[in-house]
Amino acid sequence: MNKRFTIGKFPRTRLRRNRQKKWTRDLVSENNLSSKDLILPLFVIEGKKKVENINSIPSIKRYSIDQILKKTEEACKHNIPAIALFPYINKKLKTTDGREALNKNNLICKTIREIKKRFPDIGLICDVALDPYTIHGHDGILKNGNVLNDETIEILSEQAIIQAEAGADIIAPSDMMDGRIGVIRDRLETEGFDKTIILSYSAKFASNFYGPFRDAIGSNQTLGKADKKTYQMDYKNSKEALREVAMDIKEGADMVMVKPALPYLDIVNKINKEFNIPVLAYQVSGEFSLLKFGEKEKIINYTECLYESLISIKRAGSSAIFCYGAIDIAKIL
Ligand code: PBG
Repeated sequence: MNKRFTIGKFPRTRLRRNRQKKWTRDLVSENNLSSKDLILPLFVIEGKKKVENINSIPSIKRYSIDQILKKTEEACKHNIPAIALFPYINKKLKTTDGREALNKNNLICKTIREIKKRFPDIGLICDVALDPYTIHGHDGILKNGNVLNDETIEILSEQAIIQAEAGADIIAPSDMMDGRIGVIRDRLETEGFDKTIILSYSAKFASNFYGPFRDAIGSNQTLGKADKKTYQMDYKNSKEALREVAMDIKEGADMVMVKPALPYLDIVNKINKEFNIPVLAYQVSGEFSLLKFGEKEKIINYTECLYESLISIKRAGSSAIFCYGAIDIAKIL
């Protein structure tokens, strides 16, 4: 046995000595959470002065751009360094190839420009994927029941350029096509966006915890009973996650993401040990909603449980966390 574990012997060693007061616990705490570790995801809709509830995610709403600006201001006030934008696209604009994603005046581009005008100092993260824009709800182009890889990347790299042009600081491909990071990086470099950060959703699992998100962006109606298992990772695997991270780093990712977070802390930990790249984690809609519904049913203390889960994610080795409750937590930090 490792010597370090045989040193302390009761009663000379009493681990409870360090636990007895809040101040002793503070002195020896190994991990901490600051609002600067948090990223706030926001759902945006067309219109003016609109705030819509999302039934499956209590307390989270869809906002029109003017309201998004208010939320952004709130995030700034609480020292949250970045927000992540997700659009709810009007059904009429959805197509088989998701071409609305390439419209320079689409909802997301308009939102980016408005936010950047007023809040140039907050980090702006944009998803690169087609699911909000396709009539079938998949992240790529669907042909004869297959999600096409290389054809999808072409569109995604164009989507990335358009978002970078509009002012996005971080491009976050969440589509899980093979080779997309390299193609996007090359295009960013050659088209004048050498400062644009790529946050790759490298370890994105085909998870059951995304349900409420798909409700939020309206892709559950389009996706129906289909799943994303031919491109998102099988949650039985962890070596595969390391392999994908290694590839994404080579292709030019600046940060990598693990998603969901809490059921995948082993993955966060392994990536953090294996690679010298910032690892982020996404506490996804299903994880968050369970806490919120737990609060509604008076089973748990929402804020305390949220705080505990975020600390766990940091303890596992994550440097920042996407969290729907970012402002709730920032208020108590
Ligand atoms: C899709 C995307 C998803 C999420 C972020 N981007 C869902 C999916 O893959 O179907 C999930 C986020 C969440 O559940 O909170 N590109």
